[in-house]
Amino acid sequence: MSGRVDFSGVQSTMLVTLYLRALESRSEDSILRDQAAVEAARRIDYDWRKLQQPGLASNRFGVALRAKQLDDWAADFLRRNPDATVLHLGCGLDSRAFRLDRPAGVRWFDVDLPDVIELRRELYPEPGDYRTIGASVTDPAWLADVPADRPVLVIAEGLLMYLPTVEVERLLRRITDRFHRGELIFDGVAPWVAGFTQRIPERLRKGYPPYLTPLRGGRDVERWDPRLRYVEDVAVTSQFAKIPDRTVRAVYRLMSRFPALRDWLRLVRAEF
Ligand SMILES: C[S@@+](CC[C@H](N)C(=O)[O-])C[C@H]1O[C@@H](n2cnc3c(N)ncnc32)[C@H](O)[C@@H]1O
Repeated sequence: MSGRVDFSGVQSTMLVTLYLRALESRSEDSILRDQAAVEAARRIDYDWRKLQQPGLASNRFGVALRAKQLDDWAADFLRRNPDATVLHLGCGLDSRAFRLDRPAGVRWFDVDLPDVIELRRELYPEPGDYRTIGASVTDPAWLADVPADRPVLVIAEGLLMYLPTVEVERLLRRITDRFHRGELIFDGVAPWVAGFTQRIPERLRKGYPPYLTPLRGGRDVERWDPRLRYVEDVAVTSQFAKIPDRTVRAVYRLMSRFPALRDWLRLVRAEF
């Protein structure tokens, strides 16, 4: 590795999710079993003690449940469309492209900001029909280089909430204008969560940016881009039964009884 890693701003959030996936995947009863995350966290020269804060570790279950549901939806789409193009937006250091059983005909693009992609290229190989793109998803230029001849699966995990809503709309419309059909799978936070992150002082956010685009409901996608049709959504807390830790499972179960708490983080599937 080329030296000590550090990121500020929105890029730093992908170190948190990598850390939590690695932590969760080290346990015997792991939900995600992401060995690539374990290995990547081991290889990166980063002061992981910065993330050893009280309470953070219990978020590993939420991060694993979110990733697992998106993996399952992605695998299902790729089974139905083994010749698909995948746009994995805001990929960070996530190893989904290698975690999934990717049919040989799939063309996969991992997209993130240039400094994240630079580190990613040091960590993971770029075999066959797998490519990384270092660009902002809000920049229209990169999409022009992606062939539009196949159905597309767009995955955005931990990304859209960081973009202003107008940029979310422009991004989705650019994609649905370019491809003839496909699916979008992503996560979103409740309005009260986004509002909370906008109100607390930066010092308490520890440098992490606030959430700019909340998810009021799965049908938000149809307002963001009228070509999209909402298919289904899943609250992460509703999957409490998969959590091996009894205390965290009980907390998630309790949260799942109250709609405002249940829906704090939801996963949505839409099609066009
Ligand atoms: C919370 S992390 C999630 C990373 C990864 N999806 C995961 O689950 O580990 C958010 C990611 O979105 C990326 N990101 C934020 N704004 C972006 C933009 N405008 N263009 C491309 N990537 C962006 C960040 O660099 C970061 O890697």
